[in-house]
Amino acid sequence: MPNDHDHPPAKKFKPGSVFFRNDKNKPGMLLPRKGNATTPIEVQRKQLPIYQAKPQLMNQLRQLHNAILIGETGSGKTTQIPQYLYEAGIGRQGLIAITQPRRVAAISLAGRVAEEKRTQLGKLVGYTVRFEDVTSSETKLKFMTDGMLLREAIGDPLLLRYTVVLLDEAHERTVHTDVLFGVVKAAQRRRRELNKIPLKVIVMSATMDVDLFSEYFNKSPVLYLEGRQHPIQIYYTKHPQSDYLQAALVTIFQIHQEAPLSHDILVFMTGQEEIEALARTCRDIAKHLPDGCGPMVVIPLYASLPPAQQLRCFQPAPKGCRKVILSTNIAETSVTISGIKFVIDSGMVKAKRFSPDSGLEVLAVQRVSKAQAWQRAGRAGREESGSCYRLYTENEFDSLIPMTVPEIQRCNLSSVMLQLMALGVPDVMNFDFMSKPSPEAVRSAVNHLELLGAVERKEGQVFLTALGKKMASFPLEPRYSKTILLSPDYSCSDEILSIVSLLSVDTVLFNPPAKREEVLAARKKFSSSEGDHITLLNIYRAFKKVSSGNKEWCRENFVNSRNMGLVKDVQAQLRDICLKLNMKLGSCGAEMGNVRRCIARGMFVNAAELQPDGSYLALDTHQPVSIHPSSVLFQGKPAYVVFNELLHTSRCYMRDLCLVDADWLLEAAPEYFGRKLHPSKS
Ligand code: CDP
Ligand code: MG
Repeated sequence: MPNDHDHPPAKKFKPGSVFFRNDKNKPGMLLPRKGNATTPIEVQRKQLPIYQAKPQLMNQLRQLHNAILIGETGSGKTTQIPQYLYEAGIGRQGLIAITQPRRVAAISLAGRVAEEKRTQLGKLVGYTVRFEDVTSSETKLKFMTDGMLLREAIGDPLLLRYTVVLLDEAHERTVHTDVLFGVVKAAQRRRRELNKIPLKVIVMSATMDVDLFSEYFNKSPVLYLEGRQHPIQIYYTKHPQSDYLQAALVTIFQIHQEAPLSHDILVFMTGQEEIEALARTCRDIAKHLPDGCGPMVVIPLYASLPPAQQLRCFQPAPKGCRKVILSTNIAETSVTISGIKFVIDSGMVKAKRFSPDSGLEVLAVQRVSKAQAWQRAGRAGREESGSCYRLYTENEFDSLIPMTVPEIQRCNLSSVMLQLMALGVPDVMNFDFMSKPSPEAVRSAVNHLELLGAVERKEGQVFLTALGKKMASFPLEPRYSKTILLSPDYSCSDEILSIVSLLSVDTVLFNPPAKREEVLAARKKFSSSEGDHITLLNIYRAFKKVSSGNKEWCRENFVNSRNMGLVKDVQAQLRDICLKLNMKLGSCGAEMGNVRRCIARGMFVNAAELQPDGSYLALDTHQPVSIHPSSVLFQGKPAYVVFNELLHTSRCYMRDLCLVDADWLLEAAPEYFGRKLHPSKS
């Protein structure tokens, strides 16, 4: 793209432009998408690239026990293969499971396939995600998150209900997917040994390290779906960019001024806040463009957006208007958007990082892998040739890691360890992982579980305790299940169940940055000096009081009514588990001291202490941490807090805080804190 002249909009926010270099040697590749929303659904199905391959594919899949299927995003793997198998009568003796790393994907894909089959969701086609089960005895095609299939394996390690498991989006290598690989592989082998109905395992992805997967899955054959490919021009910046947000902004308007308005732009950024901020700036600038420069619609896309808003990215822009989608990595593979001609890749992604030394798991913005960068570029060439603008130099690209490190090697493993032990895996360290987690991370997880009382060591072996078994019955992180199990001691189970449910559901509150003042004013009446957990509980109680369906109230208070409704379901399910465990459930009414005390006891590992200079230190690791500005405790300086998670941006921020007493922490883990708490406070 020529950059020699000054563009007025670019001038407005920062003089100069982003200069790109073109690399003609590296073609991109992508499949076309034919048809559109007005084409009947049967016709759309037949236009998918996979349709051509159907007879041959079914022949092969009928015979194989293991297969790896590679085909570009949008070629029809996820929606068609389950139907093809079913129609061909393959695996009819049981269910066909299709696993997804993301719940949004599981739900929307099940919806799409039910529509294609012209049946009501929950009949032939259903889905199961955490806290939501839309299946029935008729269900044969079951979309589910990999975490859910894993939980089912605790009760049924051979997965006997299933005849086929499609492990979809395998390249994402979430920690659940990785554990599931091992569980499914073991189930397949055991079933063969016991002469049970065989289990077919098909691994699907648009992109992955096929050798690694093939080797792991018993040297399984790799089937490639062919399709037409469109070349993609790749552009790199001439110089490293110190501010990718700014670079993205400039690039969007450079393209906007030069390319035909029907060519849509997809921009890969890292997270909600950044995307919303960029969207605001784009809209502002778009209002003041010179004549002859058409209008644009700017559409944010991230996982926690309400589904109705997520759908906006699929709608074509009005004629004579450009669509600019600002997305997280969700648009890399999980979502296919048509009409994209330009991709702008920040080269960054927000992902989990774990340091076994500190035992802390943080979300941090980091560089993508090469595989991710190619996948992003590929989004530009779906219908015809396209261009990808990388906001980094070619040298920077060359220094990227080839593949994303699997999550299992960079996350806190305590939840997984607890599950594996509940699955009866005797020696967790020797579990058949595709990529082994580091011994330090495993040790750190076992230590964590030991602190929570979930496991104990005897003669060098680690065993699940009775408490640990109970903890594993909850589909929750160990510290949350521990907090619930402690709640009867403080007569505050109702409150704790509400709080844990609130924390388990995505985005119960909206925080539109453009309405920051209004949001603050609305939240004030619920705000508690005791912290965010109690504030959240206040909002939930108020929500229930005004009869939950009150849309007006939700709008005024920036409450996500749909998700708040979900909280009730979650709570009901957690309550059922408690009742099965014979717990006595009660409420402490308005006395929140008990609730905080219970939270302190369950979450003590995430405690932080105020320092004389006004900063905070995480007690476990002595890492400096700060209170996130979104917290109700941001202004105050409480001496001790526990927090839910750490977010690493410019600093390491604690999010969702609860005010606690030093004594409670000592009471929770006397030995542990005996070494750590400040003597002056004890
Ligand atoms: O799995 P893969 O990426 O190969 O493709 P897919 O998810 O089976 O999608 C095939 C096509 O189905 C997409 O290109 C969309 O046209 C359509 N689809 C849809 O309209 N709505 C969905 N929720 C999923 C897919
Ligand atoms: Mg798919």
